[in-house]
Amino acid sequence: MLGKPILDVCDLSVVRSGKQILEDVCLTVNEGEFVGIVGPNGSGKSTFLLSVLGILKAESGFVEIYGLPPTSRKLHRKIGWVSQAAANLPKDVRITVRELVRLGTINSANMFDWADNGRRERVDKAIKMTGLKEVENTDIGRLSGGQRQRAVIARALASEADFILLDEPLVGVDRDSRNSLLRLLDRLCHDEGKTILMVSHDLTAIRQTAHRMVFLEGSVRFDGPTKSFPDFQRLADLRGIQAVHGDKEVYWETTSNHKEEL
Ligand SMILES: Nc1ncnc2c1ncn2[C@@H]1O[C@H](COP(=O)(O)OP(=O)(O)OP(=O)(O)O)[C@@H](O)[C@H]1O
Ligand SMILES: [Mg+2]
Repeated sequence: MLGKPILDVCDLSVVRSGKQILEDVCLTVNEGEFVGIVGPNGSGKSTFLLSVLGILKAESGFVEIYGLPPTSRKLHRKIGWVSQAAANLPKDVRITVRELVRLGTINSANMFDWADNGRRERVDKAIKMTGLKEVENTDIGRLSGGQRQRAVIARALASEADFILLDEPLVGVDRDSRNSLLRLLDRLCHDEGKTILMVSHDLTAIRQTAHRMVFLEGSVRFDGPTKSFPDFQRLADLRGIQAVHGDKEVYWETTSNHKEEL
């Protein structure tokens, strides 16, 4: 059964440097859902997430999170953000995993409040859930790509965010780490009641975890249950791509090497 709407995006249009990037995008995400957004390079996926976070201004349309505009201060602790650059955290910054995760417990309201107020417990829990106990005192620069991603997710968990947005969390992550990261996200959704909106190029990975998939290319071309996600031929039709050899069989063969990538 679907929970109440957490994110409501209606007719969102976004222009960047004079170029229309998103046009009339509508999307609702309900409590406890795991929604995967896919689409080719430059199709506006990151732009969409940045607009949802209120970092980019909408040309028209609106975004509401928990019924509030994204810039509302009341949302500060409710939203966790794992950016596309999370795996590229600077290697020369001397900060341990534990310190990074602890940063997630700090906000403008408690910055100068030295009392613990349950912070240690939240940090411990986030580190445990993300499987980083063994490396909690290691500098983030010495972690693998997968561990770095998990550390950034742990930071979001320590803030007790209920709604977690991730932009390409699987980039630079090896196969084993990718599987454990996906299991973690699945667990967060099913056992912890988190709501997840994840952008990824990795179609197979998203298919295995998301409840619902959205294909975004300037506007929403598909939005539905994962099991109904279009096959490659229908996807090509949706995108207006024609078979270069005029023969569908050949089209399939020529694209078979790119099944993972859109
Ligand atoms: N700062 C910017 N100023 C102007 N245009 C931008 C800016 N950043 C991105 N764009 C343009 O907006 C479009 C969408 O970019 P966006 O980063 O949202 O795509 P994406 O789907 O996330 O791509 P990728 O899969 O490569 O991460 C692209 O045409 C890009 O060139
Ligand atoms: Mg992007």
